[in-house]
Amino acid sequence: MPDIKVAIAGTGNCAQALIEGIEFYRQNPEDTRGLMNPDLGGYKVTDIVPVAAFDINANKVGKDLNEAIYGEPNNAYRYPGVEIKPTGVTVQMAPVLDGNPPHLAEFAPTADVDPCDVGEVLKESGAEMLLNFIPTESHDAAHMFADAAIKEAKIGFINGMPTLIVCNPEYQKIAKENGVALIGDDVKSQLGGTAIHRALATLMNYRGIHLAETYQINYAGNTDFANLMSRGLSKHKTKQEAVTSLMPYPVQMSTGFTHVPLMRDRKTSYFYFNAGNFGNAPLHFEAKLEVEDSANFAGVMVDMARLMRVANDRGVTGVLDSACAFLTKHPPVQIPDAVCVEYVQEFIEGTRER
Ligand SMILES: NC(=O)c1ccc[n+]([C@@H]2O[C@H](COP(=O)([O-])OP(=O)(O)OC[C@H]3O[C@@H](n4cnc5c(N)ncnc54)[C@H](O)[C@@H]3O)[C@@H](O)[C@H]2O)c1
Repeated sequence: MPDIKVAIAGTGNCAQALIEGIEFYRQNPEDTRGLMNPDLGGYKVTDIVPVAAFDINANKVGKDLNEAIYGEPNNAYRYPGVEIKPTGVTVQMAPVLDGNPPHLAEFAPTADVDPCDVGEVLKESGAEMLLNFIPTESHDAAHMFADAAIKEAKIGFINGMPTLIVCNPEYQKIAKENGVALIGDDVKSQLGGTAIHRALATLMNYRGIHLAETYQINYAGNTDFANLMSRGLSKHKTKQEAVTSLMPYPVQMSTGFTHVPLMRDRKTSYFYFNAGNFGNAPLHFEAKLEVEDSANFAGVMVDMARLMRVANDRGVTGVLDSACAFLTKHPPVQIPDAVCVEYVQEFIEGTRER
């Protein structure tokens, strides 16, 4: 099977976890723990190969990807014993736009280098999809990368962050015209706050529990959280809609983010539910999750990239609805998880078009 050639926008913690995680499975080929699909349509996670990468951070631009993913302020979990050899991929300087506002520039200066032509680099690299991992609320930069991939290079686009690209009818139309596939928006981590919140809300629906209000508080010590505290609007929206869209009646929901530097990339999520059971008698429920944040993202990205390859193999273009519903927080069409998990398997088997 030919390699799945990917380009990466943003070589932060999520990129570090993706690249190290793929290497973990390469070095431990019998170990399939932590994978949703060890084999997905004939592809293994080790078939995913980066061929281009973009950033704006002075500690990363101009470096081989194997060095850039350890450039400050990256602080993701290090897989014991995993060393990344030089990849031959040099991180290119992208247009900064709204990617490094003052509250993020405190962690790393912008590289003093002229930006590349992202569309041209994508074309020359032979990438078949661009994975977008830039900071939340970098809307201008997200649109720039979407334009370069979908309009110029005419390759697939996987949107890992919450700017609504795949939900935008204009991008959907152009993707169809240009024969490329889309997955997004905003990754729903493997077992993250959104997946758990949705599962608990669904359980309450099944059991006739009336949910009056609920909140989710998240904290970690990575730059994603430093950023979310200053500009988390789109993340609040994708997180809240992922839960409230499942409910058959209006529910009050709040979400919060706090930056706790010493936690590094380990994220804690607290869940609170104020509900009523029989006769609306009071029912309160709390839960806590602690997880390596970027590994939780990468475990989903390896399936997204392989699902897009399967679509490319079959000539399926436009929004990949099953993948979007199961693997993202804000898909164009929300589908309950118990249903879309089956849709994804049907897509892999070839009995469902998208
Ligand atoms: N579990 C998770 O970690 C998770 C889950 C869902 C979604 N996400 C989303 O994934 C995205 C990436 O998260 P992360 O933890 O890797 O963030 P990060 O801050 O560690 O990395 C972002 C990278 O993007 C770079 N960047 C900024 N502007 C850029 C530009 N114009 N062009 C190219 N690169 C640019 C930064 O320099 C940095 O290296 C965020 O939007 C986050 O919300 C993460």
